[in-house]
Order: sequence, then C-alpha cells, then structure tokens
Amino acid sequence: MIFEHKSVLLMETVDSLNVKPDGIYVDGTLGGGGHAYEVSRRLGEKGRLIGIDQDADAIAAATERLLPFKDKVTIVRSNYKNIREVLFNLGIEKVDGIYLDLGVSSYQLDTADRGFSYREDAPLDMRMDQRNDKTAADIVNAYRERAGDPPDRDDTAARGDHPRCDPCKDPRRGRTSGKTDISGDPHRTEP
Ligand SMILES: C[S@@+](CC[C@H](N)C(=O)[O-])C[C@H]1O[C@@H](n2cnc3c(N)ncnc32)[C@H](O)[C@@H]1O
Repeated sequence: MIFEHKSVLLMETVDSLNVKPDGIYVDGTLGGGGHAYEVSRRLGEKGRLIGIDQDADAIAAATERLLPFKDKVTIVRSNYKNIREVLFNLGIEKVDGIYLDLGVSSYQLDTADRGFSYREDAPLDMRMDQRNDKTAADIVNAYRERAGDPPDRDDTAARGDHPRCDPCKDPRRGRTSGKTDISGDPHRTEP
C-alpha cells in the first residue's frame, strides 16, 4: 500500500520553527516525512534533522521521501519518549527545535490490518510499533480481567443496546467491527 498522508498545518508549523540553516531539529513523529521535508529544505549543509518514528512503515516511507537530503537527515526508529537517548547516541547535546505531530497517520488508519479503523473488519491491533507484542485487543481483554469483572454477570450487560453496556466488555472486543467469529466467548451475543 502506498504511504499517503497529508501533513497538517504544514507551512504554519515549519514557519513557526524559524529554521536556522545550520540548526539541529528533531521531528519526534516523522510519519511520511512531510514536515521533515520542508524543514530539511530550509537547512544548509551544516544543518541537521533527526527524524524519529516507531512505525516501520513510516520509517520506510520517510527514508525514501527524504533521500534528497540524506546527508543532513538521520532517521531513527524509536519512541520519542527516548529522545534523550537517541540524541545522546548521536553525540548531540543541544538542538534548535523539536516538533511533534501527534496522532496517527492517514496511512495507519487506511491500512486495515494495522487495526486502527472501525471501517474495516480486522483484528484490533493499533500498535504503532509493530515490534511490541501487545495489541489493543490484548490490552482491552487484560484490562477487563484486571478490573475484576465478575465472570457470572448478567449476559445482557454485554450487549450494545444495554443501558449499562461498557464497550470494552463487548463480546466482540478484539475486532475493529462486529463481523467476527465469537464462538467460545461466554458473553456471546448475536451481531
Ligand atoms: C500524524 S503522523 C505524522 C505525519 C508527519 N508529520 C508528516 O508530515 O508526514 C504521526 C506519526 O507519529 C508516530 N508516532 C505516534 N506516537 C509516537 C511515539 N510515541 N513515538 C514515535 N512515533 C510516534 C506514528 O507512527 C505516525 O507515523
């Protein structure tokens, strides 16, 4: 699938950075590299952009898009929470600007098997970093267990039309839509 994402507030964001040609900038949510492309374009030979993203597909797309600036761009697959470590490993002590474009990319939403969208029937995955073991389906099920949900509760409480319905306890949890095989589930309900 082609990585498509329209960068939000592209010029507004990049203009507000006042990019110095020899500055060092960090894009903590690189995505398809839309913002990073504009920042890189404004950098001179001594300028540098560090692009971080935890999604392998984003890293691949941005690497290709930023190829014209490969001498001044460093791409790191990581969570931006590790920014200190990433910069330390690159020998960078100070930067001139950091920006984050928080959220999911259109590509992540549009790719059914990434499990972010309710438009498709697909496993509820939602991992931005595909190296993580735990999917959203694992989490909603584990949270349910941790909450000490009584196993013998009223079956109708799991139905979507029940006034006390909790979506996390829906027997169809684990899928992005209701069209799934729910056999074996003790709270089974017909779609
Ligand atoms: C809205 S997109 C960024 C689009 C990008 N600015 C562009 O113009 O192409 C958000 C990106 O942030 C990444 N992301 C979300 N949370 C992250 C985190 N904690 N660490 C690293 N990347 C993250 C997602 O994988 C996604 O690629």
